[in-house]
Amino acid sequence: SRTAKPRRGRSSFVVVANRLPVDRVEGADGTPQWRRSPGGLVTALDPVMRVNKGAWIGWAGSTDEAPEPFDEAGMHLVSVPLSATEVENYYEGFSNATLWPLYHDVIAPPVYRREWWEAYVQVNQRFAQAAAEVADREAVVWIHDYQLQLVPEMLRALRPDLRIGYFLHIPLPPVELFGRLPWRQQILRGLLGADLIGFQRPGAASNFLRLTRRLLGYQTQRDQVFLPDGRVVRARSFPISIDVAELEEIARRPETHRRAEEIREEIGSPAKVLLGIDRLDYTKGIAERIHAFAELLNDGVVSPDEATFIQVATPSRERVEQYKLLRDEVELAVGRVNGTHGRIGRPAVTYLHSSHDRVELAALYRAADVMVVTPLRDGMNLVAKEYVACRYDNTGTLVLSEFAGAADEFRQAFLVNPYDVDGLKSTLVDAIRLDPRTATRKMRSMRRHLVEHDVDKWASSFLTALTGDMRT
Ligand code: ADP
Ligand code: G6P
Repeated sequence: SRTAKPRRGRSSFVVVANRLPVDRVEGADGTPQWRRSPGGLVTALDPVMRVNKGAWIGWAGSTDEAPEPFDEAGMHLVSVPLSATEVENYYEGFSNATLWPLYHDVIAPPVYRREWWEAYVQVNQRFAQAAAEVADREAVVWIHDYQLQLVPEMLRALRPDLRIGYFLHIPLPPVELFGRLPWRQQILRGLLGADLIGFQRPGAASNFLRLTRRLLGYQTQRDQVFLPDGRVVRARSFPISIDVAELEEIARRPETHRRAEEIREEIGSPAKVLLGIDRLDYTKGIAERIHAFAELLNDGVVSPDEATFIQVATPSRERVEQYKLLRDEVELAVGRVNGTHGRIGRPAVTYLHSSHDRVELAALYRAADVMVVTPLRDGMNLVAKEYVACRYDNTGTLVLSEFAGAADEFRQAFLVNPYDVDGLKSTLVDAIRLDPRTATRKMRSMRRHLVEHDVDKWASSFLTALTGDMRT
């Protein structure tokens, strides 16, 4: 590939992400089918791509032979194949057992293995090659997330004519943690292949600038990094969002309201419904919130007729050790609280280990009086934004971790430190018993912010900064 001449593809706008927006799965009759991919990255990028009609390069989620490029909803989807060993070493290993825990404050211990790193380099090269083939002359290429941090540098080497942007969807830790990574310099150089590097929070952008000074010895000024070859790279925060109008439209449908009613009846018509919706991930604080709710029931502070909990957890990264341990912890906690406080037809915690379509999610958000979002660390957290989008009548209460990026924007939420069990318990009680007028005031102010900061605004501010005048 090193000798390949820069070939010229057809797309003037190219997104590169580990995942395609759809996963290839086997249908009941054994035929291949497509299903929306999990997670916040796809939730945010999908509407942006439908409007921009670009090409999307990513993995189709299985180790079968990669499907030929195909068009869907105006997007050109190009699938990058991964072998079973690459899924183990690049995806489950380096991406999700090294980088993911390291970048989320070492909530779980990161594992450093040289063969995982080697697979990461090799797979990043394959993505860079695919992007180089699809992009038209002087095209705009937007690379996403921690799985592909080497692609900006690799792609620039193959195609110096391109305008390259990179966005990190997860937190970037300070040098005290990042500095442990044996391949810290290679990662930073990889990212610096981009013209513009976006982060969720201003703190992550300043961590990045400090890392380039401390670990590479580069000069920085404001949001700019000065490279030895004379290039100037910019690093800034662009908080991500959701398609607010689309979700609100679903939430307003009469059938969504009927379904929300039905959900409340099915769980025994409690006075208040608390809700958690997450990928089953140890960064989300799922066990912490179940433990806190269980203690409130055990203490007799809250009765299960007053409030019950629904926890929906999407299966995620199921072969990675820490995810198996988390699943056991959560399912033990749920079983225990229901054994003690449940009744037939009225569980204390309703737990679903499954994923659901947008219509069902909207009905759940409509059914919930209190949304409980308690990550121990989270780049943004789109679930918090989705809840606010669905509460178009200004009802409902949001409990939100200080450690989610969304806490920068939703100052009116009940902000909590999820490590503080007593603080979390008393906040849940305050949220359950909040008077409706205060709830309305809080929700109205959060909605006002959200409606003005939807995903189109996020994408256009990033792309304008990338393609517009690059000088400050
Ligand atoms: P992350 O990107 O870490 O998964 P976010 O909260 O930013 O976290 O985004 C999660 C996305 O996945 C949201 O759009 C949310 O609606 C979706 N999601 C979470 N749980 C489920 C589920 N059980 N079924 C379907 N979608 C889900
Ligand atoms: C987070 C990450 C995404 C990832 C998603 C789902 O949102 O930032 O890059 O795609 O989780 O995780 P998965 O491992 O299933 O792709």
